Amino acid sequence: MQIILCDTAAEVGVRAADIIEARVRQGPAVLGLATGGSPESTYQELIRRHREQGLSFADVTAFTLDEYAGLAADHEQSYCSTIRRELVDHVDLPLDQLHTPRGDAADLVAEADRFDASIAAAGGVDVQILGIGANGHIGFNEPTSSLSSRTRVKTLAGKTRADNAGYFAEGQVPRLCLTQGLGNIGEARRAVLVALGKNKAAAVRSMVEGPVSAWCPASVLQLHRRAVVVLDPGAASELALLDYYREAQDLNDQLA
Ligand code: PGA
Repeated sequence: MQIILCDTAAEVGVRAADIIEARVRQGPAVLGLATGGSPESTYQELIRRHREQGLSFADVTAFTLDEYAGLAADHEQSYCSTIRRELVDHVDLPLDQLHTPRGDAADLVAEADRFDASIAAAGGVDVQILGIGANGHIGFNEPTSSLSSRTRVKTLAGKTRADNAGYFAEGQVPRLCLTQGLGNIGEARRAVLVALGKNKAAAVRSMVEGPVSAWCPASVLQLHRRAVVVLDPGAASELALLDYYREAQDLNDQLA
């Protein structure tokens, strides 16, 4: 696992955007897109590069990670609407190349299988962007998720529902979701996880330095061949081997 330590959220966005841009400029690319606060600075930086440096997403196919069950794609709080607001509507990624699980599908189990198949049909994900929940989840793979799980219906953890309560009217936070599984995430050719703030520090420590365990779903990235974790000082603050990561980063930057 490669750890990149940054001074600010903006710098996290720049370092993550560098990895994404490098792949997008190589030719047709499949991106896995996370929603939420964590990738915001990354998406802002990609939008800036689109506007100012001609970075084009015309040949990008994108798959989001997850969706609330019961919400139509055009619901304000759906992750389909969210990713459009945060990134897609500000770049030249054609809407018919954006794939999101349908939270309002009549048959959610069939919808999960359909979504999984559409990722496979696109040839798999080249770069998967990830955030991490304070409880260690990635996507909506809550603690005790199978480490080889596929896209499926999941019950949201109480902590996740509490963390997202601010986006919904009282009592309206969905209880179920569709999420890509930890197996899907593991198959992405590159994984880039961004984390910001002290409230993610314990989860980041478990992910990077704890045992591989379904108790911290993000720890499955220890098994990934090309995982990069980009952190601000708060998110990095509980890591035991900070000095080692810093030294490795300096050497890597010199080699680049
Ligand atoms: P956040 O959520 O990026 O909004 O902090 C991350 C997550 O819960 O996966």
